[in-house]
Amino acid sequence: MSFTLVPEREKSLEQVLARYPTAQAACIPALHLCQEQHGWVSPEVIEYVARRLDLPTAHVLGVATFYSLFHTTPTGRHQIWVCRTLSCALGGSEQILKHCEKRLGIRCGETTPDGAITLRSCECLASCGTAPAMQVGHDYHENLSIESVDAVLDQLLQGKGGGPDVHPGGLGGEP
Ligand code: FES
Repeated sequence: MSFTLVPEREKSLEQVLARYPTAQAACIPALHLCQEQHGWVSPEVIEYVARRLDLPTAHVLGVATFYSLFHTTPTGRHQIWVCRTLSCALGGSEQILKHCEKRLGIRCGETTPDGAITLRSCECLASCGTAPAMQVGHDYHENLSIESVDAVLDQLLQGKGGGPDVHPGGLGGEP
């Protein structure tokens, strides 16, 4: 099935293209717009961006697979990113990640069977002073404890909170 941006995102893409010196330079923001709408960068999205920006498909695929912020496989509607870098590791991020795995019944990198939540780990979220930290959608959660993680997971499992995802994360589903 082919992909196309909805009119309001197409308008945003037009604005992006007007700001960048070349179509190639607009590849990353174009992929962002598509991922926001589609939830992930599917082969159809790659084709669309290549066609729309008049770039080789291989170039767009190279960009999409180089940056971890683009998802080239389907993701959950919410993404949890648990930081595992030094400050967070010292603050117990491994236990937090394990706790998330246990609560959600999935391993890091997997999505819950209902497609609601993808659990991931990531490098520094630039919140080292308030470690351990994790990101859920656009929201940061800092100074984490098992109890505060549980509160976040409870909200998500009840279908509340999380907001649309960016990366470190991408929201599943069309707009
Ligand atoms: S080490 Fe986790 S936010 Fe920097």
